[in-house]
Amino acid sequence: MENLASDIRSLFPALSSTVYGRPLVYLDNAATSQRPAKVIELQALLSEKENANVHRAVHKLSQDATDRYEAGRRAVERFLNVDSETGCVVFTSGATAAFNLLANCFSARYLHKGDQILISQAEHHSNIVPWQLACERVGAELVVVPVEADGTLSVAEVEKRLNGRVKLVSIAQITNVLGVINPVREIIAAAHAKGIPVAVDGAQGIVHADSDVQALDCDFYIFSGHKIYAPTGTGILYGKRCFLDEMPPYMGGGDMVDTVSFEKTTYNALPLKYEAGTPNFTGQACFVPALELAESLRNNQEVKAQERALVRYLAEELPRIDGLHLWGLPANLETKIPLFSLTVEGTHPSDLAQILDKLGIAVRSGWMCAEPLVRRFSDRGMLRASLLPYNTLSEAEAFVAGLKRAVKMLK
Ligand SMILES: Cc1ncc(COP(=O)(O)O)c(C=O)c1O
Repeated sequence: MENLASDIRSLFPALSSTVYGRPLVYLDNAATSQRPAKVIELQALLSEKENANVHRAVHKLSQDATDRYEAGRRAVERFLNVDSETGCVVFTSGATAAFNLLANCFSARYLHKGDQILISQAEHHSNIVPWQLACERVGAELVVVPVEADGTLSVAEVEKRLNGRVKLVSIAQITNVLGVINPVREIIAAAHAKGIPVAVDGAQGIVHADSDVQALDCDFYIFSGHKIYAPTGTGILYGKRCFLDEMPPYMGGGDMVDTVSFEKTTYNALPLKYEAGTPNFTGQACFVPALELAESLRNNQEVKAQERALVRYLAEELPRIDGLHLWGLPANLETKIPLFSLTVEGTHPSDLAQILDKLGIAVRSGWMCAEPLVRRFSDRGMLRASLLPYNTLSEAEAFVAGLKRAVKMLK
């Protein structure tokens, strides 16, 4: 197991860094993943030698840049198993941008006064605030499904709230705070049985769960590239064409238009209708090497076994620390990814994180952009360690040992 993770680590230059003279133990992957050399090399090549704007000029450099950009889109389509007849991949600058696009355009077309949008208590701010803004604009209501004490989401609790006023369910596949895989398939089936479309926040799920949009039958799927080995400023809104065709554009500008006159402007076909202005063509092109690696990791049974072993180890060892509470620990550990959020009685999460940092261990602390969910369990924030296939068991052990030391220093 240790050899496998070491082989994977060797593909990521940042992982051999030192922090305060100690080897870096990077356990903040739910915030952003490190990038493999192949992605860094492609970014450099595109900046040094092949930089040109896309979808515009006839010159070779622009044609090549366009090909690279569209190859990035094909890579995403393959990874999500998109049927391009019925579905479409829109590039955005990230999951947050995708949610703002969706909330604006979906509400403009389908949301009216008195309607409802259904989300859960386990959502990231980017799947809360854009809906609050949209609901305020039209006089609709944001309805929230509570999470259970073990961090799971009950399908029955969702079902109870599916009524004729609900126009969309928007739900996280995996919460970024608890690392629990939500029963999105069942939720989608229940919503569809009542004719209600579902948007899935795949920001964490894209790395750890099933992202086959045809199998899920979700109507929208959203994620950020930087959490799955691609550069920052890259993201995806996948949507069924029946909705994307009907919704109005989001931003206006170059590329999203067909013809422009002062009397009447017509819009480009999908997906460009939603891609106004010069896009992050360098970043989106990097989906090719990033998803190639993600695909090989996703299909590797040894990687899966290693992930399960890390979950078991941390679920067993962390609660042995005196006063430690693990949040989001379902009885079935198969629904838990290697992401652990915790509090320790008598200590503050940010103090613990600062001591761990001095030991070279990078973790997240605070509200994790999901304040309602964190407050459900803790009024002081939490400390979170999140792991990817390049994290070794020794690193998990270093985290547990470092945490014990930090707790001892603070108590
Ligand atoms: C579950 C979830 N949704 C949405 C986001 C927003 O992603 P970004 O900040 O890349 O737009 C995040 C980022 O942490 C997340 O974890």
